[in-house]
Amino acid sequence: MPPLVTAVGLALFVTYATWRAFANSHYYAAPYVSPFYSPCLASNCQDMKGGADWPLFGSWWGLSPALLVLVFPLGFRLTCYYYRKAYYRGIWSSPPACAVAEPHAKYTGETRFPLILQNSHRYFFYLALVVAGILTYDAVLGFRDEHGNWGHMGLGTLVLLANIALIWAYTVSCHSCRHVIGGKLRHFSRHPVRYRLWGWVGTLTARHMLLAWSSLISVGVADFYVYLVSSGAFDDPRFF
Ligand code: FES
Repeated sequence: MPPLVTAVGLALFVTYATWRAFANSHYYAAPYVSPFYSPCLASNCQDMKGGADWPLFGSWWGLSPALLVLVFPLGFRLTCYYYRKAYYRGIWSSPPACAVAEPHAKYTGETRFPLILQNSHRYFFYLALVVAGILTYDAVLGFRDEHGNWGHMGLGTLVLLANIALIWAYTVSCHSCRHVIGGKLRHFSRHPVRYRLWGWVGTLTARHMLLAWSSLISVGVADFYVYLVSSGAFDDPRFF
């Protein structure tokens, strides 16, 4: 059952994310921006935050701007230790489970191409920190009204805040983060600050699977919320 549930859950998310990434519409509802489309790197997303964040891709780029940025969170999640386990078991059945023999005669694990590329996870972690920083900025912009005045809050602000809290928790709980914080030390006693941080990160790392799923769902919900408001299907309730 767990591999089946995993495969169905991932398939649902990939289907939804593919539709939204290629849709190239309804990703901005002032002051909210969909996490799938931020940061905006193409000049063809002019309606976001008054223009593209960094229009590195000029008018020659005619495809959805989401395709330029989704590669970073996608690479982070695809190479994540938890998701690897999930799709090795749920989709490839290789290996099907702990202590279950491989169907292949020779097991090379992640020591050969293409699976050796999974070792890029550390670098995707660094990029994910940048993406999380940008999404935090987007969540702060949610405290404005549709005209750009500060000191306002709507249901969308809460949706973006919940999403970024889960994204940060998932990112910080990454095994690479734990290694960056507490790895390669001979004596924890000589590095009390890193030891303390390593303990905190370890508490989150123990819940990495839960955070992987909850942040995956929250990013989809945040995008869908912006889609509903932007398409006029739902009015964002404003609290003040
Ligand atoms: Fe899952 Fe790094 S191990 S995000």
